[in-house]
Amino acid sequence: MKKILSLGLALLMVLAMAGAAMAEGKIGVAMPTQSLQRWNQDGANMKAQLEAAGYEVELTYSDNDVARQVNDIENMLTAGCEVLVIASIDGSSLGTVLETAKAMDVPVIAYDRLITDTDAVDYYATFDNYMVGVIQGTYIVDALGLADGAGPFNLEIVGGSPDDTNAGYFLAGAMDQLTPYIENGQLVVPSGQTTLAEVGTMSWKTETAQARFENIITAYYSTGATLDAVLCSNDSTAMGVINALTAAGFEEFPIITGQDCDKPNMQYIVSGIQSMSVFKDTRTLAEKVVGMVDALMKGAEPEINDTKTYDNGVKVVPSYLCVPVFANAENYKELLIDSGYYVEVNGEFITPDEV
Ligand code: GAL
Repeated sequence: MKKILSLGLALLMVLAMAGAAMAEGKIGVAMPTQSLQRWNQDGANMKAQLEAAGYEVELTYSDNDVARQVNDIENMLTAGCEVLVIASIDGSSLGTVLETAKAMDVPVIAYDRLITDTDAVDYYATFDNYMVGVIQGTYIVDALGLADGAGPFNLEIVGGSPDDTNAGYFLAGAMDQLTPYIENGQLVVPSGQTTLAEVGTMSWKTETAQARFENIITAYYSTGATLDAVLCSNDSTAMGVINALTAAGFEEFPIITGQDCDKPNMQYIVSGIQSMSVFKDTRTLAEKVVGMVDALMKGAEPEINDTKTYDNGVKVVPSYLCVPVFANAENYKELLIDSGYYVEVNGEFITPDEV
């Protein structure tokens, strides 16, 4: 009898401990689209890590359709989600639905892209977006030897999506490195297009970047001018530029920058067609955001490391900035393969779950 009692007690204690360790509650995770590789990884990482911490997850992708994302977020609120994690499509279009979240006391974390023009966003977790641009711009400065006075060289610029606040930070970080050389004539931009309004690529679409770049090639590079470098904000736009150059018969490729270490771009980096990318380890970002969610669910303060950079027009959103890392053919093995982010099979890059 005594034995049975103590067994029962032990069982109760185990159950109580498990209860204390496993969190409970439903979390909404809204991602913008499945058409770009990274968001699939972000969504999968978030879901897996939140579930491992004991939460239930409502994960949506909204096909880059703003109205659909608003609708997805409304459904999350109706379904009883207690924290919302949102990678917005258009950072300025969520004000109304987020007012509802605020009225329901549901905290909102902006994931990777800032949500603007509302006070109903509580935290922001991202990579240091300005630093991404600095890494790209510095690469071009070094690769062309601009600090040693080399030049003049021809440069063109392909920016990100104008409705994504990150696009402005990427461009600013890069242009702060390049503008002095444009001003002193070591860099020339034959198209004259340098502002986000001129170089932007709506929805970061490869086809849109490609179409614009085909026009640039025809207008400025079809009579013998050399194209030395293309500042591309990310890998999907770099892919558009590579497609346009290939279609125009280029055999020697200019310096081409990128961001995200997308699988097909990594192949181009290894084969020397694209020069570099910027690695943003989506596992790290997910880990940080899961930590924030967990803190909020437990009534604690989430960890932040920046309280001044991200002014969303209404407030400065307390942020956690992860560190972006330069990636090229020399260091990708250590960065991407040894860390288990990708597996390289016969020259192709795949994620471990695809093996
Ligand atoms: C940005 C993001 C970049 C890139 C781009 C395209 O917001 O910071 O890493 O992935 O979107 O989706």
